[in-house]
Amino acid sequence: MRVVVTGGGGFLGSHLVEQLRQRGDDPFVARRADYDLTRWDDAERLFRDAQPELVFHLAAEVGGIGANRANPGRYWYANLMMGAHVLELSRLNGVGKVVTAGTVCAYPKFTPVPFSEDDLWNGYPEETNAPYGIAKKSVLVGAQSYRAQYGTNAIFLLPANLYGPRDNFDLQTSHVIPALIRKMVAAEDEVVLWGDGSPTREFLYVDDCAEGLLLAADRYDGAEPVNLGTSEEISIRDLAELVAELTGFGGEIVWDASMPNGQPRRSLDVSRAKQLFGFEARTSLRDGLARTIEWYRASLPVAR
Ligand SMILES: NC(=O)c1ccc[n+]([C@@H]2O[C@H](COP(=O)([O-])OP(=O)(O)OC[C@H]3O[C@@H](n4cnc5c(N)ncnc54)[C@H](OP(=O)(O)O)[C@@H]3O)[C@@H](O)[C@H]2O)c1
Repeated sequence: MRVVVTGGGGFLGSHLVEQLRQRGDDPFVARRADYDLTRWDDAERLFRDAQPELVFHLAAEVGGIGANRANPGRYWYANLMMGAHVLELSRLNGVGKVVTAGTVCAYPKFTPVPFSEDDLWNGYPEETNAPYGIAKKSVLVGAQSYRAQYGTNAIFLLPANLYGPRDNFDLQTSHVIPALIRKMVAAEDEVVLWGDGSPTREFLYVDDCAEGLLLAADRYDGAEPVNLGTSEEISIRDLAELVAELTGFGGEIVWDASMPNGQPRRSLDVSRAKQLFGFEARTSLRDGLARTIEWYRASLPVAR
């Protein structure tokens, strides 16, 4: 089967490409330098060059709270346009299946925990990531509408916050786990962290997420969005202590409460993924963090 992975050179994409290759596929890895998917002409050329039968649409402009606050317009525009182009070109080219990565940032700010897919539309997302989350949510509406009108087999998955080897460790744009690891590996006396440590998050190891994408591609052909996660919730404070333990950081953790916390709580109801395509995450947070830290130390100083 001819498989295209947009964002295939990125964090999640590179792990998915690895798993596709392990099972004998030879995916076409679409890179931004060759195909800027916010541009119609480039996107059209990608579909012409690759003639895909299956598309994993993972390309996105993403980042942590800081990057979202600095780029609300760009994140809204880029993620909306890329999603729209991929759907429309999949329709025009009769692509057999499109697997789209949404985001937990699409959920309303005060969603009851654990987040059920049925609550996705019951409120406005947390302000700092709303432009990104809403752009992605709009792609879900596109996928459902294209399925209804044109029979396009587009599915939409909502991964929890990801972490793992090859994550983005650039402190300007990184998510919380790589930021913690980088700061704690580098510092001796103290690290300053954003917020007050009270928010909770759920973290999915990147290889588990890639496995979930593959299972969904193989087994799920429905219109409803599906969470991919672990259902294990941890506070940022406890996470920081766990990363400190695993990195051997013995200094002080200082909370800068003048910086934003982000969404108060995040944890996913993962029953739909299990029921519809048999997905269950296998990697514990402790094991996944240990592997990520090991990779980061081995990659220094070339890690992003
Ligand atoms: N990381 C998370 O915690 C998380 C959680 C939930 C959902 N997701 C979703 O998972 C997907 C992958 O995220 P990630 O963390 O792996 O991000 P990532 O490492 O930044 O990868 C995204 C890739 O998108 C590509 N891209 C960006 N702008 C593009 C453009 N204009 N045209 C073509 N390609 C473009 C980049 O490709 P190049 O490398 O070629 O420049 C980049 O590598 C995204 O859809 C994201 O929304 C991520």
